[in-house]
Amino acid sequence: MGETIRAIRQVEFGGPEVLHAVDLPRPVPGPGEVRIAVRAVGVNFADTHARENRYVRAADLPLVPGQEVVGIREDTGERVVALTRGGGAYAEEVVVPVERCVAVPDGLDDDQALGLLVQGLTAWHLFRTAARLEGGEAVVVHSAAGGTGSLAVQLARPLGAGRVIATASTAAKRDEALRLGADVAVEGDPDGLTERLVAANGGRGVDVVVDMAGGPGFDASLRALAPFGRIVVCGIATKEPNEVRTGHLLRHSRSVVGFWLFHCLDDPARRFVAPLDDLFARALRGEVRVHVGGRWPLERAVDAHRALVARTTTGKLVLDVGRP
Ligand SMILES: NC(=O)c1ccc[n+]([C@@H]2O[C@H](COP(=O)([O-])OP(=O)(O)OC[C@H]3O[C@@H](n4cnc5c(N)ncnc54)[C@H](OP(=O)(O)O)[C@@H]3O)[C@@H](O)[C@H]2O)c1
Repeated sequence: MGETIRAIRQVEFGGPEVLHAVDLPRPVPGPGEVRIAVRAVGVNFADTHARENRYVRAADLPLVPGQEVVGIREDTGERVVALTRGGGAYAEEVVVPVERCVAVPDGLDDDQALGLLVQGLTAWHLFRTAARLEGGEAVVVHSAAGGTGSLAVQLARPLGAGRVIATASTAAKRDEALRLGADVAVEGDPDGLTERLVAANGGRGVDVVVDMAGGPGFDASLRALAPFGRIVVCGIATKEPNEVRTGHLLRHSRSVVGFWLFHCLDDPARRFVAPLDDLFARALRGEVRVHVGGRWPLERAVDAHRALVARTTTGKLVLDVGRP
């Protein structure tokens, strides 16, 4: 490796066209950090928010986007998945805090390991940590054919759900959710959504909703909750945040729960490494499978972003770095 690496960099915030392939100096690890030779990068919806500086955490320019990689840890030679600190993943090499690296077991390929990192961990925590899913409960997974949604559909029953209700915007995506194990899949459009969700649960309110889009669909989903039901807010893909009235929550014994994966890094052994190992074990025994719905060379990150925001993708999106 020379003194430079290929990376995607943006020097302004904006649409996918701000993503450019450039040569950058090799990143140098500081104390407590390790360098990873990247084999593949995961694209997440969060990267599209960060690109516009509308993510949970404000971004600085110039920005190398991305939060997750799979690759080879330079100091030990281990194959690892790793979460970056505030970007930097769309590159041939990244530097990460050592506690954000987890070794990938033999038998699990790069795509499976990468898909289980941000999106798998999120799906796991949505049920276990945020919704505190109880045995036999009826669960709704919105955007059920997407990266996070497709894993949430597969994990719902093993983590305790009774009935799994999926929503998605197209018939092909709903078919995919049914193939993944949903009991029923309905149109995700906010119009009439409350009634469709209740009907899909045999006329009863639902117990848990995993919401990734916000806007009118959030309000419609909140109204579909049974007493003591929880809606977990994990994304605002519509960019329309909602207002919630405490009187409504009290009157219906409903809860709204927020979730952001990066808070799990405050307690990495319990909330990062252990759940990821659990996910790896489930993948190794075939209980959950990452479906890669699109892959591009690193240099074409722009195309991955265009496809993701156009809602044409399913499953995990991967950027191949193409080094041995
Ligand atoms: N809080 C966290 O820590 C955390 C972690 C991971 C992901 N997330 C969130 O979870 C959601 C899914 O993330 P992902 O990376 O797995 O992406 P993804 O589900 O693979 O893709 C996004 C999906 O969102 C749906 N969507 C709804 N409204 C949309 C809109 N206005 N524009 C584009 N898509 C829209 C689309 O599905 P339909 O066409 O079927 O509606 C689309 O396929 C995102 O909101 C993301 O921010 C949050």
